[in-house]
Amino acid sequence: MNNYSIVLLPGDGIGPEVVAEAVATLDAVAAPRDFAFRYTEQPVGGAALDTHNDPLPDAVLEHCLAANAVLLGAVGGAKWDHLTGAQRPESGLLKLRKALGAFANLRPVMVPDALATASPLRAEAVRGTDLLVVRELTGGIYFGEPRGRAPEGDGEKAFNTMVYHTTEIERVARIAFDWADKRRRRITSVDKANVLVVSQLWRETVQKLHDQDFPAIELEHMYVDNAAMQLVLNPRQFDVIVTGNLFGDILSDAAATLGGSLGLLPSASIGGPVGLFEPVHGSAPDIAGQGKANPIAAILSVAMMLDFLEQPAAAQAVRRAVDAALDAGARTADLCRDGHRRVSTKEMGEEIRRNLPTP
Ligand code: IPM
Ligand code: MG
Repeated sequence: MNNYSIVLLPGDGIGPEVVAEAVATLDAVAAPRDFAFRYTEQPVGGAALDTHNDPLPDAVLEHCLAANAVLLGAVGGAKWDHLTGAQRPESGLLKLRKALGAFANLRPVMVPDALATASPLRAEAVRGTDLLVVRELTGGIYFGEPRGRAPEGDGEKAFNTMVYHTTEIERVARIAFDWADKRRRRITSVDKANVLVVSQLWRETVQKLHDQDFPAIELEHMYVDNAAMQLVLNPRQFDVIVTGNLFGDILSDAAATLGGSLGLLPSASIGGPVGLFEPVHGSAPDIAGQGKANPIAAILSVAMMLDFLEQPAAAQAVRRAVDAALDAGARTADLCRDGHRRVSTKEMGEEIRRNLPTP
């Protein structure tokens, strides 16, 4: 029997609430099958700052590096907003991604029929959207050096550096092409090559990899401003989107609204031996602790974890159960409209677990 070791990093805000539902779902899907999970819960972000004065204590990182996978809730909140640099909760997350070598962040966006009408866009424009954002996660302007602040003249300047090496572009593009190959074989590489030198290298490198290794996949290059517009005008045109760290951060939030709520979007950060799984939504401190958070993003993140752990049938069961719960009209506050049954975070989790198909 496979026994997977999972580090839980619930973090801040709504993180703990949604992680609790995701864990209960993992256990429920494993129970009738021949595998199980062993969990270690560790602090990260603001929670770790409070107890260890460090958003990612070394000992926590050691646990993560020794696990099969890591499930993170969310980091950050007003309480720690005055902190700067390595003391910010977010820097714990960035350090974790880097230390795990998780250079590719996969963010699937789907708009199931049951949610098309929840979108702020017209239902007929978003219905059937099924795209995958592959975001480079351990490079680009998030990590580039030099960075800093310095006095200049009678003021001050601040600077970050957007930098990519061909190796970093190639390895994330290869993952994106591999996914495109398993999907509808279309890929859109997003950059700002009309302005940024780093984007020119990005574009050339992606094109070269395509011509050499993936000529059968349809490749299109798109500027990031246009991509933002196309995502809301006609999201169905996209299959796989591959892009750098900053553009991917922005575009994935935009794409998340297609289904009506950021609370739906899961992610997997892969590339190293240990996978990191996290809902795309943040810590949402305004609704924390009230049972209002949508646990679906966290639950779909563990579906991605199950795929990573090579348990595809269990992953599929979780996805089916989420669809069934939505089809049955259960909605957390973020998605609740007339005619729906409004449920709490925990009730949504229970509804999903009740709908798990028996193997
Ligand atoms: C995300 C978040 C993070 C990011 C923050 C919390 C550092 O916005 O995962 O999209 O910018 O990567
Ligand atoms: Mg983001």
